[in-house]
Amino acid sequence: MTMKKILVTGGLGYIGSHTVVELQNSGFQVIIIDNLSNSSLDVLEGITNISKTPPAFERLDLRIKADVSDFFKRNKDIEGIIHFAASKAVGESVENPLLYYENNLNTLIYLLQECNACGIENFIFSSSCTVYGEPDSLPITEDAPVKAATSPYGNTKQISEEILKDTCSVSSLKSIALRYFNPIGAHKTAEIGELPAGVPQNLVPFITQTAAGIRKELSVFGDDYPTEDGSCIRDYIHVVDLAKAHVIALQRLLSANNETQFEVFNLGTGRGSSVLEVVNSFEKTTGQKLNYKIVARRPGDVISVYADTKKANKILGWKAEKTMEEALESAWKWERKIRNIS
Ligand code: NAD
Ligand code: UD1
Repeated sequence: MTMKKILVTGGLGYIGSHTVVELQNSGFQVIIIDNLSNSSLDVLEGITNISKTPPAFERLDLRIKADVSDFFKRNKDIEGIIHFAASKAVGESVENPLLYYENNLNTLIYLLQECNACGIENFIFSSSCTVYGEPDSLPITEDAPVKAATSPYGNTKQISEEILKDTCSVSSLKSIALRYFNPIGAHKTAEIGELPAGVPQNLVPFITQTAAGIRKELSVFGDDYPTEDGSCIRDYIHVVDLAKAHVIALQRLLSANNETQFEVFNLGTGRGSSVLEVVNSFEKTTGQKLNYKIVARRPGDVISVYADTKKANKILGWKAEKTMEEALESAWKWERKIRNIS
């Protein structure tokens, strides 16, 4: 049986690399496009060490339309695309909105134009729970209203979903947008993980870097929110669980089991954890004491966000299986490995 060939854009990034491993484990042939703007070639080695199969790789910038066209002329046998490539730093998007609109929207448009031209019908898109803003009720279901975006980054996710929906309505394209909650953790082998550029903005990389002595202390942004311990609540999901959902979503499209041309699913655990709970859980799981202090709220933070996972559970037949402890332990193992800490 010939293996189905899947293009993974941004496949050397954090979520993409874990997904490539799961795709290869499930018998797909993978070709990665990445411009290495937020990743490195070492990731290819990590993926290969885990799955014993080197994925095909092309260093290519998806903003260059001619290069994207040329790629599809040379690769006529692609059956599906998982599109991770994007810029993802919320603060940077406020400072440089055009970079974000160009990188997150032009790349999507060029890929969809090629889908039309080449007859590729299966497209998975990385969306985000950021589209819900501060939700009116919890847990958040997929039909909760999309709120006005608070950053250009968030706006690109909303516009991308619209672009996909509109394209699906006038073509044979089938697409699933996966709205990720907060991905954390690393592969259990510590061959691949998250590599934030510069000072981490996200909680878990900041925690592991603090424990590794790279950062002096973690700032907990606010303990006066209307939550049980006063810190914000998020739905932290193990990146490997997230990666597996992509394989299932892809199989759904490939076997034409989708109910509508454009579908949306929440990917979370359904459990909300506060910042202080994550800190405590990290200390307990790893035995590392963490320096932290409570500081003022971070502008733009929503109070509490966690997923209603019923739709993904029932329709995709997918459920997050890994625990917060497994995620934090794997994140710490990865941090130790890249910092050479025994
Ligand atoms: P990442 O930065 O680790 O991975 C993105 C990859 O895309 C990188 O390897 C980067 O080099 C590549 N890339 C960026 N622009 C490119 C271009 N023009 N051409 C080719 N390659 C390009 O990010 P991630 O955390 O793995 O996120 C993957 C996707 O998931 C993104 O679309 C992101 O917005 C979305 N998402 C991430 C999170 C999260 O917390 N990590 C949450 C919600 C949604
Ligand atoms: C942020 C983005 C979101 C994006 C997501 C994944 C904002 C407003 N939202 O979500 O759009 O999809 O990242 O990339 O930026 N925290 C601390 N100290 C820290 C870091 C974080 O207390 O040093 C707290 C935050 O206040 C928050 C929680 O930890 O309550 C999680 O923060 P973070 O990892 O940045 O994710 P989000 O803010 O949920």
